[in-house]
Amino acid sequence: MRILQINSSQRRAASQSTRLATRLVERLRDVDPEATVFVRDLAADPHPVLDEAALGALFTPAAQRTIEQAQRVALDDALIDELKAADIVVLGVPMYNFGVPAQLKNWIDAISRAGVTFRYTANGPEGLVTGKKVYVAVTRGGLYRNTPADTQVPYLKTVFGFLGMTDVHFVYAEGLAMGAESEARALAAAHEQIEEAVAA
Ligand SMILES: Cc1cc2nc3c(=O)[nH]c(=O)nc-3n(C[C@H](O)[C@H](O)[C@H](O)COP(=O)(O)O)c2cc1C
Repeated sequence: MRILQINSSQRRAASQSTRLATRLVERLRDVDPEATVFVRDLAADPHPVLDEAALGALFTPAAQRTIEQAQRVALDDALIDELKAADIVVLGVPMYNFGVPAQLKNWIDAISRAGVTFRYTANGPEGLVTGKKVYVAVTRGGLYRNTPADTQVPYLKTVFGFLGMTDVHFVYAEGLAMGAESEARALAAAHEQIEEAVAA
């Protein structure tokens, strides 16, 4: 069993989402002590943005790429290989300005590759990253669960589903900026949700 942990908070030391993701991984390893863990920390190791040069590299046939283009594509390849090798993916995702952190978007842009992680067929799109369980710990200063302002959860469900990952569990820690009591309640609730998710 291989677990891939993706940390997307840009607060490396004090991050609540990283702590919750780490807790999820610990509990998954309690269930399967043989499980190996690979941590991809997008704060320590930010992935480059999908810019014009990157698009040019991706759309150039491999044999015709310059060294720089091949190096750029190889960075994305590494993330795709990590994802494909994993049986379980655990993400820590803070809300930043009503969306996911830009670094997580860069990771999603890197792993979404036509013909490799999804393809279009006569019946529509088909995700090629199948057979994985995904756990996402989302953290927010305010309260947005099940409201139209929660763009993160529908977005992540859509993009993971598109790539073939349909078994996705969300753990919420909300109201973290609404005072000490609210924060303590939110974290206790998140730990309960972790237990439920791991037992499911
Ligand atoms: C740049 C930035 C933007 C944020 N935007 C929002 C927001 O739109 N809504 C919200 O509820 N909380 C927002 N927050 C609060 C964070 O979601 C909250 O503090 C969360 O716990 C941060 O995750 P972390 O502890 O893993 O770093 C923001 C925090 C930062 C640093």
